[in-house]
Amino acid sequence: MTDDGERHRQSRLVIDEDGTFDAERAREESLPVEDGEVIDTDELADHQRYVEGRGVYDERNRVNDLTGREWKYATKSVIAEGYPPALQHDLRSEHGGQKPPRLCAELIGRFSKAGDTVLDPFAGVGGTLLGASLCEHEGTGLREAIGFERTERWVDIYQNVLEAENEERRARGEPPLADQDMRRGDCADLIDDVPDDSIDLLLTDVPYWHMDELEQTRNERRTRESKLGSFDGDGPGETDAEGPDGADAGDKPDERDETQTKAAWLAEMAAKFDRFADAVTPDGHVVVFIGDMYREQSYEFLSAELADAIESTAPLTLAATLIWYDPTKDLHVYGYPFSFVPSMVHQNVLVFRPESEEATGN
Ligand SMILES: C[S@@+](CC[C@H](N)C(=O)[O-])C[C@H]1O[C@@H](n2cnc3c(N)ncnc32)[C@H](O)[C@@H]1O
Repeated sequence: MTDDGERHRQSRLVIDEDGTFDAERAREESLPVEDGEVIDTDELADHQRYVEGRGVYDERNRVNDLTGREWKYATKSVIAEGYPPALQHDLRSEHGGQKPPRLCAELIGRFSKAGDTVLDPFAGVGGTLLGASLCEHEGTGLREAIGFERTERWVDIYQNVLEAENEERRARGEPPLADQDMRRGDCADLIDDVPDDSIDLLLTDVPYWHMDELEQTRNERRTRESKLGSFDGDGPGETDAEGPDGADAGDKPDERDETQTKAAWLAEMAAKFDRFADAVTPDGHVVVFIGDMYREQSYEFLSAELADAIESTAPLTLAATLIWYDPTKDLHVYGYPFSFVPSMVHQNVLVFRPESEEATGN
């Protein structure tokens, strides 16, 4: 075993042919490298420690368990990642608005610490819950997760997914995913059972305004596309792996309010987040997926409108909007040749922090 001082001396040997420092090689040899420099670990402050292969971790980090090097990557405002079908995708895709569990795990890793509690009040078939379980084996450690979902079918699918996935994992000799706390019912009622200041991260994907019309528009588009064909040669009937589609489905038709105006939808969402905010710890985060929409020849900037509605109603401050860009998304011919219609390959991820007590006057 070499002590840190020994390592530091060794680092002088990690140079390329021109005599310049080879950070890549130093990293491969597990030397403490940050920003292309070997760190003299003797000089780290008391609250800092070098984590082999990951960089310097500062014990004062209250946001997540990431080292400085990981933090730099994790604060990027665009997540450009396609998530291939995984974790019983076929079962989950009955929902239509399901999120990739690995994307959820990525966000959970950015906005919470091992052992924290995550809540998804619009849980669907459990993208957030599965993501929280994935963190145990692929991230920085298990998070407890609670999900609320009012549609029995989606709750059943979450349980079936977990069962099928764990059967396969056991057969491969891998540890099973933890069964999270999925509760069936209306989030407006279920939130009353969640104590104030007990949730470290609220991660959710809101039910959309006007899904019925959206689906109708999609079907009309598909018919038009089937006449035109898509640019990339994929048949119009082919379904995407998993990803943003401008907006999500997922509510059963009989549970949608077909007459709800956008203003009413925004007010309802804002009121719900106002109530959810009580459950979130002062250091916590509220992270919301929301796709913009193109509807009746105009762009519905739902992400901006929802952010504004939530900020002006709930004691939450917008800290960031991230973009999830799925580079694997199929492109189709929308509007050609008469008008520019965006082919939505991204979704927005709104990140809120609880307002400080001074700001709320409490
Ligand atoms: C966009 S989907 C969420 C999909 C989820 N992220 C996943 O990976 O499966 C929104 C979900 O919220 C549910 N929902 C809508 N209103 C609700 C309410 N008041 N209480 C509980 N669930 C509700 C819908 O049934 C739908 O499944």
